[in-house]
Amino acid sequence: MKKYQAKVLSNKQVSKRYWHMVVDTSMIQTPVKPGQFFHIRCADTFSPFLRRPLSVYRINEETTEFLYLVKGQGTIAMSQIKEGDTLDLMGPLGTGFTLDQQAKTILLVARGVGVATLAAVAQAAYNQGTHCVAILSARTKEDLLAAEFLEGFGATVYKVTEEESTSHVEHIEKVILRDIFSQYKIDCIYTCGSRRLSRLSQKTANKHHIQGEIALEEHMSCAMGACYACVCDIRDQEKIKSVRVCIEGPVFPLDKVVME
Ligand code: FES
Repeated sequence: MKKYQAKVLSNKQVSKRYWHMVVDTSMIQTPVKPGQFFHIRCADTFSPFLRRPLSVYRINEETTEFLYLVKGQGTIAMSQIKEGDTLDLMGPLGTGFTLDQQAKTILLVARGVGVATLAAVAQAAYNQGTHCVAILSARTKEDLLAAEFLEGFGATVYKVTEEESTSHVEHIEKVILRDIFSQYKIDCIYTCGSRRLSRLSQKTANKHHIQGEIALEEHMSCAMGACYACVCDIRDQEKIKSVRVCIEGPVFPLDKVVME
């Protein structure tokens, strides 16, 4: 696993709870795929000691962007990093999403910070001429800041929020998904960020006989497969087996993941 010292080009608060960081990753020769993550040291101190996994938000030739939710000691420390500082990061790590070159239209279903993970899929889809339809769910309208980013890549975006009482699963299933499937022939579903929406995505993929992928978000410690802090269950033929999200994931086939 490679570790890098990368220069932070900007680190700005973009809404009440979210920050956006741009890092010079020109020294990283390994191609970065949507769904992969970097394991980031949040501060030059022993507190917070653990690194934080951040999935890539936008992948550029010389830079990588992260959109992150500031909610704990690690991400608070990360929000204090200044332009010009050096960031200690390991990666890119994990499996990324697969995007079929033949896909004409794909559906993204994201909740909260899961939007950051799927934004990179929208970027990759745009680059290969695949149209994205996206359902973005958040607590407030302000938290839907990535919607514009997706629209910039030609995505058709449906926004739902708790503050408008539009984010409950029944509404998404009976109104939004019905509308989407009446207008588009969806080739694949990608989801991240919510168990309830992931279950709905599984059900929808099953109903329409289409493939899907999910990026799981689990707490991580080592991100090297050694500590088993990130284990989840997946179906393997007739059996259930435990896998490490940091190594075997974070992206898995949607129909394989066991949702409690
Ligand atoms: Fe240690 Fe995944 S974080 S095995």
